[in-house]
Amino acid sequence: MRPLALSACAALLAACVGDKPPPDPAARSEEVRTYLSALAPILVSRTLSADEIALIEQKVADEGQIAVARQVLSGWLGEPALADAARELIQTRLSVSGSGIDGVNYELPGNLAAWTVVNGAPWSTLVTADFCVGDDLSMIECDSGAPYTAGLLTTRAYLKARASRFNLTRASTLLNVFACQRYPVPQEVEPSIAKERLRAMFQANTPEEQEDPAAADAFGNGFGCYNCHSQFAWHAQLFVQFDQDGLFRPDATGLQDPEGELGRSVGGLFASHLADPAEAASPASQMLGVPVADLGEAGRVLGESQVMTECMARNILEYGAGLEPGAKIAAELISEIAAELSPGQATFADLVLAVFGNQRVYQTLVEGIRHPAPPADEAAPAPGDGEQGSEEQS
Ligand code: HEC
Repeated sequence: MRPLALSACAALLAACVGDKPPPDPAARSEEVRTYLSALAPILVSRTLSADEIALIEQKVADEGQIAVARQVLSGWLGEPALADAARELIQTRLSVSGSGIDGVNYELPGNLAAWTVVNGAPWSTLVTADFCVGDDLSMIECDSGAPYTAGLLTTRAYLKARASRFNLTRASTLLNVFACQRYPVPQEVEPSIAKERLRAMFQANTPEEQEDPAAADAFGNGFGCYNCHSQFAWHAQLFVQFDQDGLFRPDATGLQDPEGELGRSVGGLFASHLADPAEAASPASQMLGVPVADLGEAGRVLGESQVMTECMARNILEYGAGLEPGAKIAAELISEIAAELSPGQATFADLVLAVFGNQRVYQTLVEGIRHPAPPADEAAPAPGDGEQGSEEQS
């Protein structure tokens, strides 16, 4: 299915909705039909039914466009295909799916996403579940062997697919996909760790401050290590007990392997950002300013947060509207949508209704359908922006 074509204005989903609804009732119905026809294949894998079309034609004149759009959307929320949309969204955002020749089941994250929809569980279960979900959507034990769990974050699928030096890719993916943030994160969202707790190479903010020859000219222009890595340090630390195969290793030290590549610890583990050996070995850290004992607690803090609720609304909007991850979307619009949702409790279905039943989302996407943008890619992330932008500033 072709994604919704967005006008340049619509791609920003900013407050550029000057257009009034068409005066003619038939045209108003037609507009609702166009909007829902574009969403149905993505959200429920089908076209509009004859009953839905009839309902739109009969009711829009009296009840208004949004009320009728919400009625039709509500009807979709119990359909089994919605679980497939949830699965696909997560699998696409994480680029994790399939069953590996390495014996790792890369479907576990997608299975959990589908399970939450089938069982009406909060979408935050993605990062809070203390169980995993098999391919038949039954609850199973998780596969990393860790004594703590954080939904899909503690599946081998996530841990292995995102394994990298210093655990940076596990950390940045967590932050991109579930908090819609990139480093450096605003201090209100994640206060930095104290400089003296970091390994020397991450303390520097200028090349002159760089004491560690390993980092002297290796990364970027040598500036600002502390700005980003003082927050990275917290999130990377949560993964210090998982080796490159995604297995829990109680013997992890977080110490740099003196013989190994920078950022690697011994035995297929990764090095910590932290200088003190006791701190480097510990999974205790901080998530969104809250001290946590391990990744399990971090997942619960994240799951309950307004940050994740808003990020999930954004992900669903991007997915349903065919926008690139990190597309420019007005921060006020995301807050307005999230105001309808209770953090930690909102289900995928609640999110879909809040996003696509929103007046401004409706108007902006309809505007894009009326005046499609030329096939340019100004909306694409700038080179070097990474997989996800966080350009939205209020
Ligand atoms: C603007 C934020 C930012 C700044 C400034 C920054 N980094 Fe990074 N750094 C990142 C990101 C993002 C990654 C990639 C994480 C990932 O794998 O997803 C990264 C990766 C790394 C890696 C791992 C590279 C690899 O190939 O695995 C090292 C080591 C590192 N940075 C050190 C430094 C040092 C030293 C400095 C200062 C000279 C620095 N960084 C400055 C954000 C930053």
